[in-house]
Amino acid sequence: MSDPQTLPQAADIDAIRDRLDGEIAAISDLRALDDLRVAALGKKGEISLMMRSLGKMSVDEKKVMGPALNGLKSDVAALVEARKTALEDAALDAALASETMDMSLPVGRKTGTLHPVPQVMEEMAVIFSDMGFSVAEGPDIEDDFHNFTALNFPPGHPARDMHDTFFLEDGEKVLRTHTSPVQIRIMMSEKPPLRIIAPGRTYRSDSDQTHTPMFHQVEGLVIGEDIHMGHLKGCLMDFVSAFFETDVDVRFRPHHFPFTEPSAEMDVRYERDGAAIKIGTGESWMEILGCGMVHPNVLRACNLDPDVYQGFAFGMGVDRLAMLKYGMPDLRDMFAGDPRWLGHYGFSPLVQASLESGLS
Ligand code: PHE
Repeated sequence: MSDPQTLPQAADIDAIRDRLDGEIAAISDLRALDDLRVAALGKKGEISLMMRSLGKMSVDEKKVMGPALNGLKSDVAALVEARKTALEDAALDAALASETMDMSLPVGRKTGTLHPVPQVMEEMAVIFSDMGFSVAEGPDIEDDFHNFTALNFPPGHPARDMHDTFFLEDGEKVLRTHTSPVQIRIMMSEKPPLRIIAPGRTYRSDSDQTHTPMFHQVEGLVIGEDIHMGHLKGCLMDFVSAFFETDVDVRFRPHHFPFTEPSAEMDVRYERDGAAIKIGTGESWMEILGCGMVHPNVLRACNLDPDVYQGFAFGMGVDRLAMLKYGMPDLRDMFAGDPRWLGHYGFSPLVQASLESGLS
């Protein structure tokens, strides 16, 4: 039942190949090339339709036309592919020629710097780990128990007001006002002897030249069976000399914290030299940290027997120590995110603080 009028003949095939070859060679963009591929080889394409008609042919016709159509199909596919590669290469050559880069231009300042706060925290961690401390952490959002009650601030105690606390809306949680709650978390979760520092963010509703609502502290805690005030003093004196990389004169002044007894503040000797501050010489004293022997009530709140265990704790302001060491005049600039400030006071992110090669 074949109809020789509409069925393709072997002679047509060469004509189709020649025509498509010419069309493909004339195409100069990838979109048009793909349109041609679909028109010839797609599901309803010219060649695909011709292949479908094979079913209507006689066995003899099929023997000739089957291989001929398959040959046409693969020839046209190869022509399309070759043209595609040629067009893509030409597009790449054109891009390479037009998108040139002048490698002799100066690069400008492209590398970021490490903020002084993480730099100083790293320096502190290096010094304290050399003394056998490990680094602990606690959450920024604290509960009343860890931030106050367990630290021997009974409910209603006036010292709570001195902390200018940020309360969360639920009335239960606070933004921690100091890193001291980490003392509680460590004493409740680990067994003495303990020797940890806890660096982190702290928050108080306060803002002026020497206060920002968010600031950084490093807490220290040492608990053992024979720890006394001499250990506290020796540890902190060694720390400041290592930190400022010079001999530093310190003094301890009696103070009050609910969670330590006795309590003290430690000052370092300094003098002003124009706008700069010189540590270690002069007649002035600057407070840099609070410290003391852990209060028996705090030990009890953490289920430690004060007749067996004693210890000392300290808390220092990282931002202020950074200002002192690196001579920054205003604390608020630290958190203003000004790239010029960071360019000037920032540190190389690729240089690690170490006691051997120097801290900074
Ligand atoms: N948490 C105290 C403060 O923020 C500092 C401190 C820590 C004092 C540990 C004594 C012991 O002011």
